Amino acid sequence: MKRTKGIILAGGAGTRMYPMTSLYSKQLIAMYDKPMIYYPLSTMILAGVKDILIISNDETIPHYKRLFDDGKHLGMNIEYAVQPEPKGIAQAFTIGEKFIGTDNAVLILGDNIFYGYLNFLREAIENNKAATVFGYFVKDPERYGVVEFDEKGKAVSIEEKPKKPKSNYAVPGIYVFDNSCIQRAKDLQPSKRGELEITDLIKTYLDEDSLQVQKIGRGIAWLDSGTPDSLLDAGTFIASIEQRQGLKIGCIEEAAYKAGFIDKKGMKKIIRNMPDSYYRAYLEKALEHRE
Ligand code: DAU
Repeated sequence: MKRTKGIILAGGAGTRMYPMTSLYSKQLIAMYDKPMIYYPLSTMILAGVKDILIISNDETIPHYKRLFDDGKHLGMNIEYAVQPEPKGIAQAFTIGEKFIGTDNAVLILGDNIFYGYLNFLREAIENNKAATVFGYFVKDPERYGVVEFDEKGKAVSIEEKPKKPKSNYAVPGIYVFDNSCIQRAKDLQPSKRGELEITDLIKTYLDEDSLQVQKIGRGIAWLDSGTPDSLLDAGTFIASIEQRQGLKIGCIEEAAYKAGFIDKKGMKKIIRNMPDSYYRAYLEKALEHRE
């Protein structure tokens, strides 16, 4: 059976978030109590994806390597690739060609945060035939890729940041594709803004009638963090849930333990190598509670 390889696209021009992004890309900025990339990485882990390629610019890649190394301590295989310039989200599949090999691929944008019962992603990966993307009801769809459905709930159009959106369903930055996404990405033409658009890649599946679009219900929070205000809002949201429950969101080590990527011994080793911190104290407690 084909496996599904995960890609986290975590680069970008960083212009909107300047000066926070002067030194490295925004996915390393703190979102409440951890770097932003921890959240999409933990989403992948909870979906059962063990092989991850992190794509970013060459200034930021060394920082990611320091954070995650080769991922073995998490029971994973984490690799890295440089995107010399932010030439579009769909470029992830040409950059990731060797890494994906003959497998399927799931791509998550490094600034997309999901919170709630995340089984929808694991199921989409397991059941994907050609391409599966999601639809999430928002009040400002014009900021996103927008999917339109017919009366039967079948997707009929998808547009990137339309001035007049045909629905309120935005397409979140998480995409599940079969192996043909590599060739499809190679065949794309850059858009007017000079990027290989993910929406154009998705459209190739829609045109062949092989696209599945699943609505994500209200029980899931999907947050993005493309502006200082949305970063603060997302951080405040995470802080209030963590403080209320005493449970962390986006804690990659706990997720790896929960997903069965590492056992108790592996977790203890990770904790031993951590500096004395709130984060370490949390993991110690998390382990204790499961004993
Ligand atoms: O957040 C979901 C939306 O993401 C989708 O609804 C849209 O269809 C999709 O185009 C994308 O829209 P954005 O306007 O958010 O894309 P942005 O250019 O901001 O890039 C999203 C993230 O990916 C951001 O963290 C930077 C990173 N990125 C982006 C591009 C274009 C890269 O690392 N390399 C790139 O070449």
